Amino acid sequence: MKGPHLVHRVVCPGSFDPVTNGHLDIIGRAAGLYDEVIVAVLINVTKKSLFTVDERVEMLREITARYGNVKIDRFHGLLVDFCAANGVTAVIKGLRAVTDFEYEMQMAQMNYRMAKVETLFMTTNPLYSFLSSSLVKEIARYGGDVGGLVPDPVLSRLRERLAAE
Ligand code: PNS
Repeated sequence: MKGPHLVHRVVCPGSFDPVTNGHLDIIGRAAGLYDEVIVAVLINVTKKSLFTVDERVEMLREITARYGNVKIDRFHGLLVDFCAANGVTAVIKGLRAVTDFEYEMQMAQMNYRMAKVETLFMTTNPLYSFLSSSLVKEIARYGGDVGGLVPDPVLSRLRERLAAE
């Protein structure tokens, strides 16, 4: 039986502009470990994005529909405030390489310092350790092939969006 202090719900936060197969891999593995995974899309009005928050949420909903315990939400402001509002005590993050580590550790320690929110790191599937949303956008923008790097619904949306640019 779960005690009151055991984590059963985690949040997987990010920009997801757009969601990649690397993100999806982490979300799916987290869904196998926890009762509920909340994927939280950051609303960042100061950062230029390719997809609107609504579009990103829609794509995430579509590709995670197979998981009954994954919920998609959005947030602005501090992640720890979102966690408090949703009864979440832990954040789950994918770590691709040591280059991710420094910044992630700093945020993890700050989130713990602010609100005792824990951060759990999951190592990225090596198939996706080189993958990032910004590289996907750059490659797709210049006509490179990003098939296999993003889920199919994202691939078609990327093509549409970049054709319209
Ligand atoms: O996909 P990203 O852009 O690397 O995700 C970064 C994200 C959204 C997880 C991070 O920027 C974040 O948590 N932002 C919310 C603002 C916040 O809480 N800042 C203080 C961090 S200690």
